[in-house]
Amino acid sequence: MKRILITGGAGFIGSHVVRLFVNQYPDYQIFNLDKLTYAGNLENLEDIQSLKNYTFIKGDITDQGLLEKLFNEYQFDRVIHLAAESHVDRSITDPLAFVNTNIVGTVNLLNTAVAAWSNDFKNKLFYHISTDEVYGSLEGEGFFLEDTPYDPQSPYSASKAGSDHFVRAYANTYKLPVVISNCSNNYGPNQFPEKLLPLCINNIKQNKPLPVYGKGENIRDWLFVIDHARAIDTIFHKGKVGQTYNIGGFNEWKNIDIVKLLCDLMDKKLGRTEGTSRKLITFVKDRAGHDLRYAIDASKLKSELGWTPSLQFEEGLEKTVDWYINNNEWLDHVTSGQYQKYYAKQYTS
Ligand code: NAD
Ligand code: TYD
Repeated sequence: MKRILITGGAGFIGSHVVRLFVNQYPDYQIFNLDKLTYAGNLENLEDIQSLKNYTFIKGDITDQGLLEKLFNEYQFDRVIHLAAESHVDRSITDPLAFVNTNIVGTVNLLNTAVAAWSNDFKNKLFYHISTDEVYGSLEGEGFFLEDTPYDPQSPYSASKAGSDHFVRAYANTYKLPVVISNCSNNYGPNQFPEKLLPLCINNIKQNKPLPVYGKGENIRDWLFVIDHARAIDTIFHKGKVGQTYNIGGFNEWKNIDIVKLLCDLMDKKLGRTEGTSRKLITFVKDRAGHDLRYAIDASKLKSELGWTPSLQFEEGLEKTVDWYINNNEWLDHVTSGQYQKYYAKQYTS
């Protein structure tokens, strides 16, 4: 029996990780700790909320007293840490929120785990989920490897880099058993529509402009979220303590090309004349300090642990579009209220 604390389990990636673990491992007890920020949504987990091996706890990882109480009460023996502020644009307008959750929150969790487990690290694990953005921006050829020096360029990636450094420092200093994975851009169902793909899907549905930053030349490596969750499952069970694993989709796209592909797919799905949605593409002011290219070399994960993505990109994108078309209610709920205010502020300058 494992008692696993998953933080940020009501968010985009976290909800897919929680679902996979709850369904696949009925003998594990899964505890989902989430503050339910604008990005956290219990509707993501309605299908598993009443299962016996699942418990939701509303709470903030920056609250040290709460963490101590929870470790004491539930005796977690493993942690999968996903809770974070995750959106680069928001990190540009409010960097301190990122320092608080991503750095202070992570250090609180580390401190609590070290204290709670101090007498016995046997069978314990602190698994920290991070991003490829800590490696910085690739300006030409090449890929991020696990030993690529950190060179974060945005407040978001700087805060994630900081948290990764703390996790490694706790492994070195206190002998905490840790593992870290750094993943490329995820896409799929349940992603909050402030990130590129769900924002464009939502806008195409509503015939609203598709804001492409700069000239749309920036490149990202896209991975279907369920393949990320599968990678986390693999690393959790087979990863070597103290190691870092890069996770990627082997799937690079220029922003403008991915938006065009999405437009064409949406036209088909919505029964619109070919070319209709492409007319919505609007080039807008570039993001400050916009990283040009991210590209992951995930061959270590493939050769050492046997993980590869299960879906071709076109198949994953179609599944994603179908999900957003069939889940109007989810989209309506998350795009009411605060979302409208955020959208107006971000895109009307
Ligand atoms: P998300 O923003 O969708 O979800 C984050 C979750 O964390 C939300 O449910 C939110 O309520 C919760 N949370 C935020 N602050 C909290 C706090 N102080 N205490 C407790 N809970 C809090 O993010 P995501 O896209 O699912 O990303 C999850 C993790 O994966 C993050 O650590 C992110 O850095 C990492 N990551 C994301 C991507 C991506 O493409 N989205 C890629 C690589 C790595
Ligand atoms: P995003 O989904 O925010 O992820 P990240 O910044 O973590 O890679 O953005 C993906 C790419 O799309 C990035 O190069 C910025 C760009 N982008 C736009 O062109 N327009 C938008 O409205 C958004 C949100 C992103």
